[in-house]
Amino acid sequence: MSLRKPAKEQPETFEFNQESLAAAKEIVKKYPKDKQQSAVMALLYIAQKQNGNWIPLAAMKYIGRFLDMPYIKVYEVATFYTMYNLSPVGKYFVQVCTTTPCMIRGAYKLVEACKEKISDNQNELSKNQNCSWIEVECLGACVNAPMMQINDDYYEDLDKEKTLKILEEILNGKTPKPGSYRGRVNNEPENNRKTLLDLKNA
Ligand code: FES
Repeated sequence: MSLRKPAKEQPETFEFNQESLAAAKEIVKKYPKDKQQSAVMALLYIAQKQNGNWIPLAAMKYIGRFLDMPYIKVYEVATFYTMYNLSPVGKYFVQVCTTTPCMIRGAYKLVEACKEKISDNQNELSKNQNCSWIEVECLGACVNAPMMQINDDYYEDLDKEKTLKILEEILNGKTPKPGSYRGRVNNEPENNRKTLLDLKNA
């Protein structure tokens, strides 16, 4: 796992823009009165989206005030979950799963590809400044291991060669097609189904 600590350089202030504010209010409405603190994870996610995919300390303080909860509680949540970035990441943010199912299917070959194409170290921008990578724990797509996430999309059934090609594309500002790179539809068996053949929608 990568070391998680807030960026040294932090903006002084943060506040939701109009769009984020509307989304945050909608989410808070879903919780009973005085239970609005339960919206903290969703609001952190909104803040991250607004702020180029990372959460400054000022945003945690802002969310604390927004939800009427202590800043330290927001900080605890933001620093615990790896889906929140505590320092700036590339426009293309690559997360390689290296938990056991992916690891035994070759996840460290994907890590090698990231080191070769993006940067030797995690959380470091590529030479052209548009990409960074980290190792993460299970992303819930183990059946399509090994896999990685780039921004909001999953790239699955990978090997080193395929990963290098995908990374080459994002380094050139393109968005490669997400999904299985062994031609599977979602997580269906390779070469079609072999069971439940009589059930059309199985
Ligand atoms: S172990 Fe990699 S997605 Fe679950």
